[in-house]
Amino acid sequence: MKMQTRIVRFIRRVVPAIACAATSASAVGAQEPVQVASPDGRNVATVETREGALYYSVERDGRKVVLPSRLGFEFRNAAPLSDDLTITGTARNSVDETWEQPWGEVARVRDHHNELRVSVAETAEPGRRFELVFRVFDDGLGFRYEFPHQPALQYFEIMEELTEFRMADDARAWWIRTDDVTHRYELLYSSSPMSTLPTVHTPLTMETRDGLHLVIHEANLVDYPGMNLTGSWERTLRVSLPAWADGVKVYGRTPFVTPWRTIQMADRAADLYPSVIGLNLNPPSALDDISWIEPMKYVGIWWGMHIGVQTWGSGPRHGATTENTRRYIDFAAENGFGGVLVEGWNLGWDGDWIANADSFSFTEPYPDYGLEGLGAYASERGVGLIGHNETSMGIENYERQLEDAFALYERLGIRAIKTGYVGDRTAEGHAHHGQYMVRHWRKVLEAAARHGIMLNVHEPIKDTGERRTYPNMMTREGARGQEYNAWARDGGNPPEHETILFFTRMISGPMDFTPGVFDILITSADGTPRPPEASRVRTTLAKQLALYVVLYSPLQMAADLPENYENQPAFQFIRDVPVDWERTEVLDGKIGDYVVVARQERGGPDWYIGAITDEEARTFEIPLSFLTEGVSYVAEIYADGEGAHWLHDPLPVAISEQPVDAGSTLTLALAPGGGQAIRIRPAR
Ligand code: NOJ
Repeated sequence: MKMQTRIVRFIRRVVPAIACAATSASAVGAQEPVQVASPDGRNVATVETREGALYYSVERDGRKVVLPSRLGFEFRNAAPLSDDLTITGTARNSVDETWEQPWGEVARVRDHHNELRVSVAETAEPGRRFELVFRVFDDGLGFRYEFPHQPALQYFEIMEELTEFRMADDARAWWIRTDDVTHRYELLYSSSPMSTLPTVHTPLTMETRDGLHLVIHEANLVDYPGMNLTGSWERTLRVSLPAWADGVKVYGRTPFVTPWRTIQMADRAADLYPSVIGLNLNPPSALDDISWIEPMKYVGIWWGMHIGVQTWGSGPRHGATTENTRRYIDFAAENGFGGVLVEGWNLGWDGDWIANADSFSFTEPYPDYGLEGLGAYASERGVGLIGHNETSMGIENYERQLEDAFALYERLGIRAIKTGYVGDRTAEGHAHHGQYMVRHWRKVLEAAARHGIMLNVHEPIKDTGERRTYPNMMTREGARGQEYNAWARDGGNPPEHETILFFTRMISGPMDFTPGVFDILITSADGTPRPPEASRVRTTLAKQLALYVVLYSPLQMAADLPENYENQPAFQFIRDVPVDWERTEVLDGKIGDYVVVARQERGGPDWYIGAITDEEARTFEIPLSFLTEGVSYVAEIYADGEGAHWLHDPLPVAISEQPVDAGSTLTLALAPGGGQAIRIRPAR
């Protein structure tokens, strides 16, 4: 028996038995591989040195997933930390605890993992030291580098992180490219063997040829650039970091920890979601009082600008007028929505607002927007205003005004802010996802927390689980959302888009996709339905409803103009659907083809099902065994109506009711590009 296999067997036998939070440490003499297994023994990480270079590898069920892959760093003005390395000791720990989310896809999260801490030192001068820490869960693993304070490594400038993912299989990957221009995640996904990848964003979802599903991502990104991955023909993904204007990737000072690099693993696509590894690798909440944080649905002065009937800037079509905002507040109050987003309320939009980033004021309204009075008008009606701060990447301009602006919003009772970062780089030339911007986003998040403000970030940095520590980090964009259906030159999002998003973008966390457009042909733009080749919503109306269940966001928009919801019985589903869930069960799913999700409302008995498909019609038989035994329920069904088709006839919705219980099976028939939304409530 090979040494490695013997160690795996030993660890599988011993580690699961280690008591909760048990810790042990040992010194390593010879350079033997060291290993750590998940509590169920299926996932095993190995760390070893070979001729002074440090490697890790990953196996699942004894099958190789990540082959021995290099670790280390290159610095400016210092030798690389990648050779002449030796393992000087190990320490182990095990944790099994369950914590409660203030809001989310599930109410409770189990953090059950085994940790291996490997101490590594340079044998040559200058003798720098670091720890490589692995946490291995039943659904995957995370690892990070930790640099203790030490004379040989105090201030440093990282030019490259040498971490690799050398994949055992040329798995199929679903990816979006990144470079200087296409860095905002707002691309359609491609899929191809991973050996063909350019530089791509994470989460990167892959399926091996024998059916293992993998997601490479990161967690707890605080003071570091976002991680991209560059492919190569030899099936190796290399970490690639966006830079500061001077080319440095990371400015650091010890003690210092990197973000976690995570590899999630699942036997079926459906088991990838909801993903909690990233949450478990973030510290618990830093906020004591979170009573002001409240998931909600919202409407907004927004879609009108995207379809061209209103403007952000001043003029006859200015959207953010007092009168229009009152109309939205009244609509929100009548329909039980918590918020009204107002874009274009502040000075700075006139002219080229992307080029003139420094013109934005975050405290001064346009003269036709009654900033002071509208806050009171909204709160008298039980509605909160959602302010909007588009920075156009004018970061210094925004940071200069941040404290004053947030203090003003707090005084006016503005409960949430949507921020925006349209633009490629900062004025100073720092990358959109580099360390400078990551620091900025953290600064804004902390300031928002101090002022009781929830955040919805557009053109954000990807989600790496910060909502665990700052539960006011509600939602973000970070993918092609609904707005592309209003104006994209390529015709909008194709019918398969959301069936890919669910297994890629949504693995990282909530998304402000802004579903709920009922005027699918965008007739409101100029009074005539848009033709098939134009940008328009490429789903059926029933699929727009299903997206409320499929694409999770604790701030969830009803995106269309209020008048388009009038006399629409299907709007009842949007009024009913919750934004906070007790449980989430993915009942079926195939990346790029279809998703069927059931979620139970938080603190209530109702269940909701959302099913979506790509351009194929599909039928699903769904047993309702997740319902409580012995309870009679009614299913309120919003299905694609007769003849519905995303391209030819997207509007028909068939609304019906049916008695059901835990023994029932529902048949869900989805039209091409269609969907189905179901509320299941106890019979009254
Ligand atoms: C792009 C955002 O995604 C969109 O929601 C917003 O309306 C515009 N930028 C203007 O800030």
